[in-house]
Amino acid sequence: MEPTAAKHSFLRNILVRLFSFAVLVFAIRFAIIVTVHGGTRDSADFCFFFESHNLSVPAHFSDAVDPFSGKNWRRSVEYYVAVFRDLIAEGSLSPDSHALCIDTPGGEEVLALREVGVVDSVGIFKKPSPPLILQGNGCRHPFSGDTFDFEFTRSGALERSPRPAEFAAEIGRTLRLGGFVAVHTAAETARDAFSFNSFLELFNCCELIRTREINGVDSSPIIEILMKKKRHGFSETLASSPNGNFVNKCFVPWHKREIVINAEALIKDEPLKPWVILKRNIKNIKYLTSLVNISFKNRYVYVDVGARSYGSSIGSWFRKQYPKQNKTFEVYAIEADKAFHEEYRTKKGVNLLPYAAWVRNETLFFEITRDPSKKMMVKGGGVRGMGRINPVQTSSSHMGDMDKIQGFDFAEWLKSAVTSRDFVVVKMDVEGTEFHLIPRLIQSGAICLIDELFLECHYNRWQRCCAGPRSAKYHKTYSECLDLFTSLRNHGVLVHQWW
Ligand SMILES: *[C@@H]1O[C@H](CO)[C@@H](O)[C@H](O)[C@H]1NC(C)=O
Ligand SMILES: *[C@@H]1O[C@H](CO)[C@@H](O)[C@H](O)[C@H]1NC(C)=O
Ligand SMILES: *[C@@H]1O[C@H](CO)[C@@H](O)[C@H](O)[C@H]1NC(C)=O
Ligand SMILES: *[C@@H]1O[C@H](CO)[C@@H](O)[C@H](O)[C@H]1NC(C)=O
Repeated sequence: MEPTAAKHSFLRNILVRLFSFAVLVFAIRFAIIVTVHGGTRDSADFCFFFESHNLSVPAHFSDAVDPFSGKNWRRSVEYYVAVFRDLIAEGSLSPDSHALCIDTPGGEEVLALREVGVVDSVGIFKKPSPPLILQGNGCRHPFSGDTFDFEFTRSGALERSPRPAEFAAEIGRTLRLGGFVAVHTAAETARDAFSFNSFLELFNCCELIRTREINGVDSSPIIEILMKKKRHGFSETLASSPNGNFVNKCFVPWHKREIVINAEALIKDEPLKPWVILKRNIKNIKYLTSLVNISFKNRYVYVDVGARSYGSSIGSWFRKQYPKQNKTFEVYAIEADKAFHEEYRTKKGVNLLPYAAWVRNETLFFEITRDPSKKMMVKGGGVRGMGRINPVQTSSSHMGDMDKIQGFDFAEWLKSAVTSRDFVVVKMDVEGTEFHLIPRLIQSGAICLIDELFLECHYNRWQRCCAGPRSAKYHKTYSECLDLFTSLRNHGVLVHQWW
């Protein structure tokens, strides 16, 4: 009997201990889960227990948001597991990495990261779903700078962002120096060099490591772009010296030269009927937006130099006919003639610069042609000829025919108004001043900021047809105009002959 009783109490002892241990474990888990749901943000603390969480599809998440998730959530997780395994094998991701997944509605990437052993990972989305997804968005990460070793963006997130430049800058901020960012984006991003370079320019914190084409979650072709953070903040390629006397040869990348090669040919011989030929040439024009994808630009800007009335080119042509790939452009109208200013006050979304585009800041005289044969009616009353700008050097006897206006340094203004990350279209019709403005734009490097230029070059054209009288108004010849266009194209500027 003795040995049996001893055996019983021994067993009871063990059972009691086991039971207490189980209770203890349960209590600890409960405490931790409560803490987690109570809002702690450091995912690393509870990763050990994450499998006990209800990791089904987040409540806000439905098929309507993304047809490839929802009920296919698990398949999606498996997809990202494969993606991250490759990155680990490659060395850009490691189990020690502190990782962030940006704009993830379902958190599949975050779960996949944890499943491949990167336990310290978290996602952000506008609707939070702890513990995987905290509240935030691509343009605002709820973290301080230099926090993550690895960041990931699923396909579509950057494309859908209304402000891709901010999206990229925010990655540049929260990524650590030496950290990696992998961006999944539609294969279209790399289809043309202009688009791919625009993309890389957005991420100017980072250096391109490699790209690879893979299938997306839905098997559509996507591209994975891997980059490494090399520097803090931005370094614009163009810098002007304080006195504005910058000399700046800008670098013309090969893809810009390629676009110019594919553009419509310049008209080599002087047209016999210029007003017919140049107008007909409009049909041949290869717009930049019909050749490349402009999605990854920061801002979209149209500058009309010599805008005249609103209807003459902004309203009739740019707003109605220029192909914009559905982007909203900021419009700048540069027009010195007061007769046109009133009209712009009522035009929404047009910024009027009531000055003359010139090569430096100075007062100019604006010639008003009084010759009755060249009279032009202008909306608002007055009779005006096509204005021409002359620097201050006229004798006072002509002052009655001149309007005093303020000229400004157009090249300097352009450098302050836009950056190379913006998409900039310029139309220039400045009555001969192009022979001053274009060399200044080239010499200052500001020319590289212009993506597409529509230039009307003014020369002493035939008034009717060949061998008849030539316009006395302009002194340049057609061949000088052709030189101007050729030199612009040699600088990688897609310039079109405008009428
Ligand atoms: C867990 O997920 C299921 C859906 O699969 C849901 O019905 C349930 O309410 C969830 N439980 C908790 C505690 O969130
Ligand atoms: C440009 O590319 C993006 C993706 O890279 C795509 O979403 C967009 O539809 C494309 N736009 C055009 C006009 O092709
Ligand atoms: C153009 O943009 C508008 C809203 O900005 C949108 O409703 C429309 O679907 C877009 N069209 C295309 C072809 O992308
Ligand atoms: C020219 O004028 C603009 C606007 O008033 C000013 O911002 C700029 O500094 C001036 N440039 C020079 C070189 O004086």
